[in-house]
Amino acid sequence: MADALAVINCSQLVTLAGARRPRVGAELRELAIIEDGAMLVRGERIKRVGARTEIEPLIEGDCEVVDAGGRVVLPGFVDAHTHPVFAGTRADEFERRARGETYQEIAARGGGIRATVRKTREASEDELVAVSRRYRNWFLRAGTTTVEAKSGYGLSVEDELKMLRAIRRLGEEGSLRYVGTFLGAHDIAEEYRARRDDYVRLVVEEMLPRVADAGLAEFCDVFCEERVFAVEESRRILGAARARGLGLRVHADQLSLSGGARLAAEVRAATADHLEHADAAGIAALKSADVQPVLLPCSVYALGATKYPAAREMIGAGLAVVLATDFNPGSSPTPSMTMALSLAATHLKMTPAEGVTAATINAAHSLRRGHELGSLEAGKLADFVIHDCADYRELAYFFGVEHAREVFVGGRRVFSRGAARLQDGV
Ligand code: NIG
Ligand code: FE
Repeated sequence: MADALAVINCSQLVTLAGARRPRVGAELRELAIIEDGAMLVRGERIKRVGARTEIEPLIEGDCEVVDAGGRVVLPGFVDAHTHPVFAGTRADEFERRARGETYQEIAARGGGIRATVRKTREASEDELVAVSRRYRNWFLRAGTTTVEAKSGYGLSVEDELKMLRAIRRLGEEGSLRYVGTFLGAHDIAEEYRARRDDYVRLVVEEMLPRVADAGLAEFCDVFCEERVFAVEESRRILGAARARGLGLRVHADQLSLSGGARLAAEVRAATADHLEHADAAGIAALKSADVQPVLLPCSVYALGATKYPAAREMIGAGLAVVLATDFNPGSSPTPSMTMALSLAATHLKMTPAEGVTAATINAAHSLRRGHELGSLEAGKLADFVIHDCADYRELAYFFGVEHAREVFVGGRRVFSRGAARLQDGV
């Protein structure tokens, strides 16, 4: 690796430079694009961004020059809600849903999250790391350089710790950055079905202390939903997590209006995620507590549902919206942030610019990484992507296409599609 890098010939250098806080309202549309832009990187950090005419004279002899070829350059996507470690797949359930069963019916028949829990419990930590490398590659190839990564398919003390250790190892051995979230309250473990209070006690009194003491997670999440964790149970778990110094995230109002958004506001969570069924009072509560909504349109799409979250109302209320994939083996088997951008435009009526802000700088802030990730500004980590288009709006417009052509993490090239050539020579 050359210690210095110059990226030149960017049709649009989409910097997202701006206020050092999550963006709201009209700010979501301000991408601070530098046309014919260039960027200097030294070591793992960005040294300078500017117009090509300004940057080129500063390029020194030892500097590797990366010619973007008139393409757009964006910060790496920050995917602030994923479940990227699990054993097995649920392709069988996918087929059953195509034949007419619903996600909830399959869950009630012992499938869903519980099916993945059974397989994940059987896997060793090494096996989990091995299968999850495949998904790590997918994220990077899709232009994502940071993921928030939840546990939640272990549901016992040892299996939750195993998942979180696997997440930490995946981050240490590879280029993708992982931010760990403890989701022991993803479902009631099978063996606790008849005594749910005992499961909540297990999460609070045994799992949380072990997770916090081992420093294995920065956040704690709860699936607050009818028939999963009730508001009162969720409040107890989140309160205990807060007392242990963890930041809070909540799966809120996904399948029904269950009070998750209001709870997220009450406990001053960093984020309330999903929110398909949140009402106006829930949105107002999020605003009053500065909670960031994390919208996950890929899971609505993949479940064949029609009720998408009310993004325009949230933006109108001044919320610092985040977009994420919710990558998981059940409700959202996609690592593609550009798919999320596409659905955000077609179903949430977010403009491509709003989507990009929600998928980068706002997402970084939701993970307490806004000071070093999510925008291309001097001093920040050099996580950036050259996409194969000249106009950033094409990332949302052409969907089902892998746009990322070269991906850099901390100033190091970790993926390059440039060498691929079709046999007909195109
Ligand atoms: O975010 N809502 C709960 N958890 C996931 C689904 C996980 C699964 O089906 O395995 C979600 O949609
Ligand atoms: Fe989720």
